[in-house]
Amino acid sequence: MDARNLLDSLSCPVIPVIVIDQLDDAVPLAEALLCGGLSALEVTLRTPAGYEAIRRIKAAFPDAVIGAGTVCSEQAYRQAVEVGADFIVAPGATETLYRTAQAFSVPFLPGAVTGSEVLSALEQGYSSLKFFPAETSGGALAIRALAGPFPEVRFMPTGGITPDNVSDYLSLSNVCAVGGSWLSPRSLIEDQRWEEIVQLARSTAAATSL
Ligand code: 3PG
Repeated sequence: MDARNLLDSLSCPVIPVIVIDQLDDAVPLAEALLCGGLSALEVTLRTPAGYEAIRRIKAAFPDAVIGAGTVCSEQAYRQAVEVGADFIVAPGATETLYRTAQAFSVPFLPGAVTGSEVLSALEQGYSSLKFFPAETSGGALAIRALAGPFPEVRFMPTGGITPDNVSDYLSLSNVCAVGGSWLSPRSLIEDQRWEEIVQLARSTAAATSL
């Protein structure tokens, strides 16, 4: 299912992209980000802890919107849905992923950066798309240009987004949310400096909330 409704319902359009190395960090990290005023998180499946992290975060914060990121195969898609992911994000899109997405009612954000990729997504019924890697794929200028031929498409850019350029993206009418890892730096997680993560989230939420 297209993710438009879910993304439109977020009180803050910034989605931290989280990598969990130590499973025990999952809940305190999510708590810090949610306490800071963010409403949705994307837990990547780049580490083996990703699935169980989603399960634990959903159990601790059932009302939070918890997505699974870096979903690159049918198996990962199915497992992410099984552990309770509220949305699924892929860095690109394949026939297999589109076919798997049809089997579930969970919102899916396929990745697309070129005209051809956007057209393929539209053919499959998706008009809310991840734009990754954003900065090296032309950044905010490229997304603005895509509004010409694709006025119905909304993008969630991620990849290279920082506090310095986040407003360039959010000011575009065809950007519905942005994602990034700058809100959950590995160095702060390793040292369990949760209060600093609360502050990071709080300043971002204050600057960007709708
Ligand atoms: C992603 O998976 O969306 C990106 O790796 C996040 O990119 P960033 O680390 O540059 O924020």
